[in-house]
Amino acid sequence: MGRHRAPSVPLKVATGHGLHAARPSPGIARGTHDVAAGTRLVSHGNYKHYHWQTYGPLFRDLHKLFDEFAHAVRETIDELAERVRMIGQDPPTLKEMLDVATVTLAGSQTTMREMVEEARANALIVIAEMRRAARTAEEHDDPGTVDLCSKFVQVHEKQEWWLRDILRNGDGLTGGPA
Ligand SMILES: [Fe+2]
Repeated sequence: MGRHRAPSVPLKVATGHGLHAARPSPGIARGTHDVAAGTRLVSHGNYKHYHWQTYGPLFRDLHKLFDEFAHAVRETIDELAERVRMIGQDPPTLKEMLDVATVTLAGSQTTMREMVEEARANALIVIAEMRRAARTAEEHDDPGTVDLCSKFVQVHEKQEWWLRDILRNGDGLTGGPA
């Protein structure tokens, strides 16, 4: 049985010339956005995984850091999905998002360094997807979505910067469990 999809009804807005059909942006949701949403959904889950799995000398900092990152990513998922609905399209299902996500699922790391390295590599992937989503929205004359993608890519760029600098310092991240 197919799931319910809200009809994609063109918005009616008042103009000086009477009612005018404002066509929803045609291309951002059913492709580029699905990938961007999927990568961020997995990214959120990964950060929570690292948050729960953190150990060692930097436990407090990394435990809190990963939780803050997860929270920031969750906000971007919700806002962009609602933006997609706002412009008359249909956000992807959970399964659709997981099927197209391009980031690595966390779970096989054995050291804190490996977790941070994986988190940084995934952050770079999310950044690339968000930049692609912004370009697609621009190509479809959708400045509102461009604005959101431009704002959210900075969230991921900041996270990648922090993870990169944690790895550069390396303090306490090389040891495994005793
Ligand atoms: Fe927690």
